Amino acid sequence: MTVAAPVALGEIVGADEVLDTPALVVDRAILERNIAEMAAFARSAGVTLRPHIKTHKTPEIMRLQLAAGAVGATCAKIGEAEVMVAAGGATDILLAYPTVGEPKIRRLLALMERARVTVALDSREAAGALSRAMAAAGRTLEVYVEVNTGQDRAGARVGDEAAALARDLARLPGLRVTGLMTHEGQANAAAPDDIEGIALAAGRALVETAHRLRAEGLAIAHVSVGSTPAAAYTPTVPGVTEMRPGTYVFNDVAGFRYGKLGPDRCALRVAATVVSRPAADRAVLDAGAKALALDKSLAHPGHGWIVGHERAEIARLSEEHGVVVLPEEERDAFRVGDRIEIVPNHVCVAVNLADELLIVDGGRVAETWAIAARGRVR
Ligand SMILES: Cc1ncc(COP(=O)(O)O)c(C=O)c1O
Repeated sequence: MTVAAPVALGEIVGADEVLDTPALVVDRAILERNIAEMAAFARSAGVTLRPHIKTHKTPEIMRLQLAAGAVGATCAKIGEAEVMVAAGGATDILLAYPTVGEPKIRRLLALMERARVTVALDSREAAGALSRAMAAAGRTLEVYVEVNTGQDRAGARVGDEAAALARDLARLPGLRVTGLMTHEGQANAAAPDDIEGIALAAGRALVETAHRLRAEGLAIAHVSVGSTPAAAYTPTVPGVTEMRPGTYVFNDVAGFRYGKLGPDRCALRVAATVVSRPAADRAVLDAGAKALALDKSLAHPGHGWIVGHERAEIARLSEEHGVVVLPEEERDAFRVGDRIEIVPNHVCVAVNLADELLIVDGGRVAETWAIAARGRVR
């Protein structure tokens, strides 16, 4: 599939009149290419694709992913899932985040009336409370056991610890353990040449734990992995059944390193305006930490990649100011009023800060999509 180079802001018809900044601008052709390529990869690897919607939080984009063959959506928080079911029509959700506390259990039961929901769990405490609630409601909840394959975030350690947890959860009334899940996020910070080995090791260890549990009679149907940096590798391990990448839909500066991608594969840019030019070597943008987010990147210095001006560094952010340090050759550029485009370092966080996506198609802002689940962190 070929795709035209992304439309530069200056080429968007009517940009000067319609485009107020900061704004999130999405190139529809790149978005669709990213969605189609990951769907094709999942098919070729023989795994189902259940994209993590935390990157876009936008029902329209989830629907494009489902139309391309995704079996359902992955969400972190139940608030995201509520939006994807109500506004996006999702019917099959994985909550890849522990569900803890009575208010969430009530909302989970309500959500289960409207969609198939699977919950990932890594503790007997959370499982016990869910078991009691499901038994009281006469419901059965499908559960993936969350497994730590090296990220050292949540999850029972792969092998004995995860197997013991799965066995205990499988005995609880109202719960049905149907899968194992890992987020091999340790790949994100690894040296690019190490990612494949790390991903394959994570996948193999997870599959091995699943085999052990099956030998004991547990019906582990799903072995689920998920990470954009590792997406080309972990799903190829025989026995992995499902992949849950999220960031791939837009890509960001992180991908310049691990995926050897360029800005032409980044579907989303933060459009910003030069609002001050207080010194020869300094320009100020109207996009600060409240538009770009504070994440740094291993791939590029500063707080984002300025398209076409890679050597100009967004050196500092305050809430509403982005301070760009200009090398000698950029000093004639960046006039007050100029529009620039920034690929964010961490696109998922930047999206959560904005209300809407401006969808550029055929050189014009064709549609505005509400980021309906932004801020749904509960
Ligand atoms: C549980 C889980 N699954 C899948 C993903 C998707 O990973 P990525 O953002 O690298 O695509 C994440 C990302 O945070 C995650 O936490």
